[in-house]
Amino acid sequence: MNPVWIIAKKRDGGELTDAEIAHFVTNYVSGEIPDYQMSALAMAIFLRGMTSAETAALTDCMLDSGDRLTWDENNLPLVDKHSTGGIGDKVSLLLTPMLACCDLQVPMISGRGLGATGGTLDKLESIPGFRTDLSREEMRNVIQTVGCVITGATADLVPADRKLYALRDVTATVPSIPLITASIMSKKLAEGLDALVLDVKFGSGAFMRTVESARELAQSLVDTGRRMGVSTTALLTDMNQPLGRQVGNAIEVNEAVAALEGNGPSDLMEVTLALGAEVLVSAGQADASGDARKQLQKTIDSGAAREKFAQMVAAQSGDLDAPRLVAPSSEVLATRSGYIAAIDAELLGQAVIAMRGGRQQLGDTLDHSTGFEMQVRLGDHVETAQPLACIFAASDTSENGRAKLTEAIQIADEPPVVGALVLERVV
Ligand code: URA
Repeated sequence: MNPVWIIAKKRDGGELTDAEIAHFVTNYVSGEIPDYQMSALAMAIFLRGMTSAETAALTDCMLDSGDRLTWDENNLPLVDKHSTGGIGDKVSLLLTPMLACCDLQVPMISGRGLGATGGTLDKLESIPGFRTDLSREEMRNVIQTVGCVITGATADLVPADRKLYALRDVTATVPSIPLITASIMSKKLAEGLDALVLDVKFGSGAFMRTVESARELAQSLVDTGRRMGVSTTALLTDMNQPLGRQVGNAIEVNEAVAALEGNGPSDLMEVTLALGAEVLVSAGQADASGDARKQLQKTIDSGAAREKFAQMVAAQSGDLDAPRLVAPSSEVLATRSGYIAAIDAELLGQAVIAMRGGRQQLGDTLDHSTGFEMQVRLGDHVETAQPLACIFAASDTSENGRAKLTEAIQIADEPPVVGALVLERVV
């Protein structure tokens, strides 16, 4: 099969066969098909899209490019949650131990910051000693002893995504629904799950800016999960402002620990409980959402989830009690009075990157101590010189972060219309 014909077929809007997709992906991973031909196909897919059959075939080939995780039989359902990425999204840090307290096992393979969004692994690495590079055997041990683990992908897990994702990142082909579906679902399906919930975000800090595109992505992800025999649902959640108050690495871990101690902000708790309830019902641990929420809330009220998180951190060589450094703080003040009318959450993510809390280039070393605390929410009324946020930054990056924050938060005479945080369920 000539790769050029396959590229041309997609370029002209044709539907690729399973064999054509398999040929292209297999030979790309082995190095027979060069990056420039894969880039051309990725762009053709970005522009022309894929049918659900093509998306399924692409997901299958990517999944088959590596190994799948296998687990010891103990009859506890294996579950996970995946977010398409947002600003201040620390739900994984809370939900993973909460689910493990409900007779579920959570083998979460997570990622680093992508674009302006923060990454769970980067956040966890602000805990002194915490390891995110566990081998498969180490992962299995942590699951067996604690019931949950959060770590990075090993090299043998979906190598096709590792290679293709890096290429998409530099060829402007990331925001494509079939490519995102195959990328996310191949990695999640390799975990050997029974149930999965997807947090598909829409808004100014999300990959999918509109509700319509988020809905389309959610349906594609759910259909792919179901087809592979995993009980999968998705929630569309609002990312027009940060989730919780803290945005950064160490400070997000602090907020997650406070939430596990019963002091979480209401928006963070709402999204966490809604996603957790989906998992409990899908995995058969609860009959209905109300019962599931009660079970999840109990893991916090009893202190069990906080204890489970500490156990997971210790099993991954981290020291939760060791101090997590937070950079010196300064305030960002409102330049006028009025309502918080709009927040450019992507720009807030860029502010963290400017303060070295995220990467500008592959391989950049992060400063985990930086970030900011939001002191206002959409719709709040503020007076001139009232604090909007508190910045944590080293002196050389603080001004850059401040400028981005100031630009990101718009104040107007009229209050905005603020929509529902958890907008809808996609099944
Ligand atoms: N997250 C992924 O893992 N892959 C994508 O393509 C987009 C977001």
